[in-house]
Amino acid sequence: MGENHLMLKRIARLEDEALSRLKEVKSLETLNDWRIQVLGKKSELVMIQRTIRELPIKERPAIGQHSNRTRKQLEDAFEKRKEELEKLRLDPLLKEQLDVTLPGWPVGLGSLHPSTQVLREIQSIFAEMGFQVFDGPEIETDLYNFELLNMPANHPARDMWDTLYISDTVLLRTHTSPGQIRAMRAFCPQPIRVILPGKCYRYEAITSRSEVMFHQVEGLAVGKRITLADLKGVLVEFGRKMFGPKREIRFRCSHFPFTEPSVEVDMDCLVCEGSGCSVCKQTGWVEILGAGMVHPKVLENGGYDSEIFSGFAFGMGPERIFMLKYGIDDIRLFFRNDLRFLRQFE
Ligand code: DAH
Repeated sequence: MGENHLMLKRIARLEDEALSRLKEVKSLETLNDWRIQVLGKKSELVMIQRTIRELPIKERPAIGQHSNRTRKQLEDAFEKRKEELEKLRLDPLLKEQLDVTLPGWPVGLGSLHPSTQVLREIQSIFAEMGFQVFDGPEIETDLYNFELLNMPANHPARDMWDTLYISDTVLLRTHTSPGQIRAMRAFCPQPIRVILPGKCYRYEAITSRSEVMFHQVEGLAVGKRITLADLKGVLVEFGRKMFGPKREIRFRCSHFPFTEPSVEVDMDCLVCEGSGCSVCKQTGWVEILGAGMVHPKVLENGGYDSEIFSGFAFGMGPERIFMLKYGIDDIRLFFRNDLRFLRQFE
């Protein structure tokens, strides 16, 4: 009985070992090695089965049945593993062990910068009124930025724009107004209705109210019977489309060398509805842009006969428009790339 017990234990151990080695088998070649070792003519199992005859008759059935069952189990395990490995060989996805059902990494979607958003909004409001977009260069000449806009060399009016010079005659444009001359020279003698959006640069200390780089949108209309009333109508329409139908617009006398007469345009304060608050410095009004009738000299510089043609022009800061609309009090936020600010306007 002791012999018998030892034999059964040996078969059980043999089976355990073979099955655990089978788990390590990763290819059909090594699977075949495994089969020869575990089930082949010289395997331990076959050796055991051969010795059964030498056992006492009474003990033979138990060992025989047990060893046959083990053999069957190992053969089944072999077939199963073979099937798995064959499948693996045929299916490259399984072989690569890439789980295509796993969720992917989230892709962060970008959004439009507030300056781009407001530029587009301004463009679409003016597009409805028949204005097309005209582009001018950011690197300008003294001639276009000042001279042709009625500011000869050494004219004190130039002090209104702190300028970044590249050379004596080349500079970074301080405003989009030089585009007026470029548009006039491109369209003359046709009538004009354009806006000129773009970046401007100033040699200024950066504060909550001023940046060295910012955007402007210039507007220009030239034709045969254009008056200040047209300018007013266009700007009232713009103010109400941008800030809501209740907005009031007022014109204040001002001075720009390239317009005559010149005005500054205010809108009743969005925050206090005109009763006075810190945003409008208790006046009830906030300035939104500068404008005027194109100066005859500027019209002539653009190629138009100022006896026959007239025109209006205006210039606004889209960042300033955006700040008024959303109650933002620091222009530096636009160009700091702080996502906490930018994401609020996604
Ligand atoms: N270019 C002026 C500036 O940067 C803004 C401006 C005022 C533009 C009056 C105009 C205008 O076209 O008519 O301050």
